[in-house]
Amino acid sequence: MCGIVGSVGETKLRDYLLHGLKSLEYRGYDSAGTAFLTKEKLEVFRLPGRIDDLNQLVPAKMHGAAGIGHTRWATHGEPNFVNSHPHCSQQGYFTIVHNGVIDNFRSLKKKLQNQGCKFQSETDTEVIANLMEMHYLKAATKNPLDAIKKTLEDLEGSYALAILFKKDDTKVYFAKLHSPLVIGKGKNTNYLASDYVPMLDYATSYYIIDDYQYGYISQKEVVVKHLDPNEEKPLVFHQTDLKVIDIGLNGYPHYMLKEIEESPEVIKRLMDNYVDGNQFVFDDVLIQKFQEADQIIFLACGTSYHAALVGRRYFESIGKTSRVYIASEFAYYPEVKGKHPLFIFISQSGETADLIRCVKIIQQQGSPILTITNTKGSSLDRASDFTLLLYAGMEIAVASTKAYIAQVALLAILRAALIGNTEIITDLIEVEKAMKGLIGAKLEIKAIAEAIAKEPNVFFLGRGLDYDVALEASLKLKEITYIHSEGLPGGELKHGPIALIKKDVPVIAFVSDQITAAAIRSNLQEVLARGAKVYVVSNQALAKEEDDFVTRNTKTYLSPLTKAMVGQYLSYYAALSLGRDIDKPRNLAKSVTVE
Ligand code: F6R
Repeated sequence: MCGIVGSVGETKLRDYLLHGLKSLEYRGYDSAGTAFLTKEKLEVFRLPGRIDDLNQLVPAKMHGAAGIGHTRWATHGEPNFVNSHPHCSQQGYFTIVHNGVIDNFRSLKKKLQNQGCKFQSETDTEVIANLMEMHYLKAATKNPLDAIKKTLEDLEGSYALAILFKKDDTKVYFAKLHSPLVIGKGKNTNYLASDYVPMLDYATSYYIIDDYQYGYISQKEVVVKHLDPNEEKPLVFHQTDLKVIDIGLNGYPHYMLKEIEESPEVIKRLMDNYVDGNQFVFDDVLIQKFQEADQIIFLACGTSYHAALVGRRYFESIGKTSRVYIASEFAYYPEVKGKHPLFIFISQSGETADLIRCVKIIQQQGSPILTITNTKGSSLDRASDFTLLLYAGMEIAVASTKAYIAQVALLAILRAALIGNTEIITDLIEVEKAMKGLIGAKLEIKAIAEAIAKEPNVFFLGRGLDYDVALEASLKLKEITYIHSEGLPGGELKHGPIALIKKDVPVIAFVSDQITAAAIRSNLQEVLARGAKVYVVSNQALAKEEDDFVTRNTKTYLSPLTKAMVGQYLSYYAALSLGRDIDKPRNLAKSVTVE
């Protein structure tokens, strides 16, 4: 979490830093700051608040030769003025912005305090700045890059750092470990940022910085070193095709709504990329790995975990033993039963720290890793043996919508490829049509959403795939409305949760499967008898007259694609009626790069 930018050269620094931060705001939005360095002075602007507030604070004519910026998701210390980045060392030699967490910052801070260092903030970042200053002042060479290297050797944890050194306004220094950082090369200017997007209108080629690399950019130069000099290698800059990806709102009031409604295109794009006529387009070696695997192990978090639950059912249905683990749990309890497991990581961002931690564990035991991600060049893409891209287009709203759709659809295509079932093509065309129908009928969902938004607790019920969707719908509702919600398997109600059911509590049930339709409807009778307000979301084949929303028919195994969209609309419209900050919900960030 947190987004960082840096630049040095001829580009209008204020524009790059502030526009760049705006496009990184999805990574955290508790507080923000920038620093501008010239030969004469260093000027720091920071505040608890959003980039728009920072824009007001930084004078319109502000300029500098080198600069850095930060948008924060608080880890150490509440989001107030003193904890906002950039942080300066005590004597002002180093000014830094940081994305990541320094695990041993307490002991390092103590050491510095013992040497007389005074701290302004509660952050781990201020410790890094002061360590740099200490190493700089101690060394006879008085070389900032050496001081940075020495500091990095002291640090345990994760960091992407952009650093200004007060005596040299021709450089921005940087360092990276387990948090993303990209260098962009432009005309007479070089750039740093947590991802490509801030640089799209500025840079012409990019370099994704590796773990343990550090160095500096200047107007004309990029110097990248490695903490282990034996690991130093020539830099390969590459182009990105991201420019063609639309990141505007296009008339929509929120990214979330826009992204929900991109779902039919997402399905089409996946088919264009993974199906050619009647042939599937997957790497033969990957298919072979699936065939050799005696067990598929999915690792994911949040919404991606819910997509993995669906994936497990898909692979089980074709005879592949499959398990799903929440990555942050697996990282500490890595149980692997089979001899030849294939790991599937599902991650929209490809940067989720909980998953990155698992990579190392799995690599040690030598099992293959397939990453399914929306982000080419992300840490997980680069660390895995195989990557399948989601082609969902950039997802900007913090709540994941179209990426979940792409994850489930891609898992369905992969399953079809493994059994050579080309019917998936017509099945997904049917889904696209059902999605378009759903978009046309969204106001019916809005009416339900406005009713449930008035209640403090909402329950989602389902069985089988509908249960997986109930979990996702519930997560979506809680994250953007702040309404307490649970997703439950219909059959579990009577084993405890039914105690929470009383008059007018909303219970939303998904009914998509012939096999369980009668059972879930009978569970609904149990809650109706206790006064709950029941809403049924079914499909044409299983609909009853009294149902509240009916989707077009699709194959049952693809029902999560349309049912999840209903859940997304429900959350969206409930949040809208409550006046929530839909695209940037409280306490969340898009890319969860801390553990
Ligand atoms: C919920 C949401 C999160 C993410 C989770 C994993 O709407 O977006 O639950 O799904 O943080 O993120 P990725 O998929 O980037 O690994």
